[in-house]
Amino acid sequence: MPPEGDDVRTPRCPVMTPSTVTADNPYPQVWGPPATLATRSDNLVCAMVGLPARGKTYIARKLSQYISFFYGSPCKVFNVGEYVLRLVDGKFQRANFFDENNLEAKALRRKASENAVQDLCEWMSGRKATKRKYPSETDGDKCEGSSYISGEFGAVAIYDASNATQDRRSWLLERLKPLGAKVVFLEVICSEDDLLAENMASTHRCLQVQEVLSAEEAAADFRERIGYYQQVYEPLSEKEASWIKFVDGGKEISLHNLRGFLASRFAQFLLNLHGQRRPIFFSRHGQSEYNQLGKIGGDSVLTAHGEEYATALAEWVDKEVKLDSEGKPRPARLWTSSLKRTRLTARHIRHDSICLPNGTEWVQMRPKMHRNLDEIYAGLCDGMTYEEIERQYPEEAAARKGDKFEYRYPRGESYTDLISRLEPMAHELERTRETLLVVAHQAILRVLYTYFMGKPREACPDVSIPLNTVIKLTPTVEGCLEERFTLLPNLQGKEKDPASH
Ligand code: F6P
Repeated sequence: MPPEGDDVRTPRCPVMTPSTVTADNPYPQVWGPPATLATRSDNLVCAMVGLPARGKTYIARKLSQYISFFYGSPCKVFNVGEYVLRLVDGKFQRANFFDENNLEAKALRRKASENAVQDLCEWMSGRKATKRKYPSETDGDKCEGSSYISGEFGAVAIYDASNATQDRRSWLLERLKPLGAKVVFLEVICSEDDLLAENMASTHRCLQVQEVLSAEEAAADFRERIGYYQQVYEPLSEKEASWIKFVDGGKEISLHNLRGFLASRFAQFLLNLHGQRRPIFFSRHGQSEYNQLGKIGGDSVLTAHGEEYATALAEWVDKEVKLDSEGKPRPARLWTSSLKRTRLTARHIRHDSICLPNGTEWVQMRPKMHRNLDEIYAGLCDGMTYEEIERQYPEEAAARKGDKFEYRYPRGESYTDLISRLEPMAHELERTRETLLVVAHQAILRVLYTYFMGKPREACPDVSIPLNTVIKLTPTVEGCLEERFTLLPNLQGKEKDPASH
């Protein structure tokens, strides 16, 4: 361990606040996270297509969460089912409501679609640049950017309905034309019984149908409703439109006439999405020497207390991660960062072998190291305590307090940088079908947790991710269920786990 004290810090460079005006550089470049000046044609409307219970609403929510979190684009899902419910005072409607020959109900359903499109258009066309000022050549710094749509890459609206016929889709394209946005249809096709059953069960939960029908009656009613849609359903084949077909939980994907950055992000995200709802576990490393000293960053090893957590974690993992809710072994994965404290925390986890249903051998929790999971890099402040930063770099400490989300450490990273660094990890996390334990760091897990919980990206710095705790997230159609398990008693006192600044 190198000697401590302020003298160790003196050789550090003085910090020049970014965009400081100096005699040598009277016109500094304004410094900030990457931003694109989006225009109307960067906006995207994604219209879902598919029979009921194919997983459209789940996919719509996941896509919206992904794009708004990683690209800062304003995203909103317009679910026509919710508009129908509003027109019928929230009352559950039986299958014959969806019969094309039920003209009264058909008119109501039309009205609901129209209301949803109207809200969508108002929402999208009403979006103005609000957060950042975009200077232009003509009006300099004063420009509020009224000609730009807010969001770095444009806004995204998802129109979540069955859009089952070509007629309906042509009507939608006509209605959306004045927006000048790109329109992509996303058809969800699913013939796998397990996936259908899961989607039907969750649709029932959403509609609170239990109050009206028994489980069996509800299932029969749902099948009848699907039948009405099947009578009129026309799969996507329009040559001139842009579309994506997502078949059997991602086993097959086809793209047609797809253009634009956000649309291509949609496609890439869908390549990794699947319907298997397995839990993900997050844990910080055990207490490190730097945690104990109140220093941030660095690459120190565990304290005796941290080692105690590592041992407790291995025991806990045997029961809670490697076994399913019925106590049967399930394949599980283990990821760590490349820093010593996470690898040491995971080192007692046992790597026994199990046999998968297809007869192949699976080594449990073979450790996989990702540099992308390394803690936020504090640059010049790496290895300092928060108090030392306040003393030596008061302007930096004040700037971080002012906007912890966008603040970037001198020669280091910000939370917005972490979001960009973790985007590939989000794809990997979505892609993984087995249960997974991620042993990482406070800021990293804040970002991943915020994304999976569908919270706004700006909420990252405030999320509580304590030491000695495993967080279990179980995905459902409605969102992730969260459970927290404290494996060792909470530590008291700031020298044990420095309070975040
Ligand atoms: O203190 C532990 C730690 O993981 C540091 O290494 C890191 O800089 C910090 O937490 C991140 O938390 P915050 O963004 O609140 O400073």
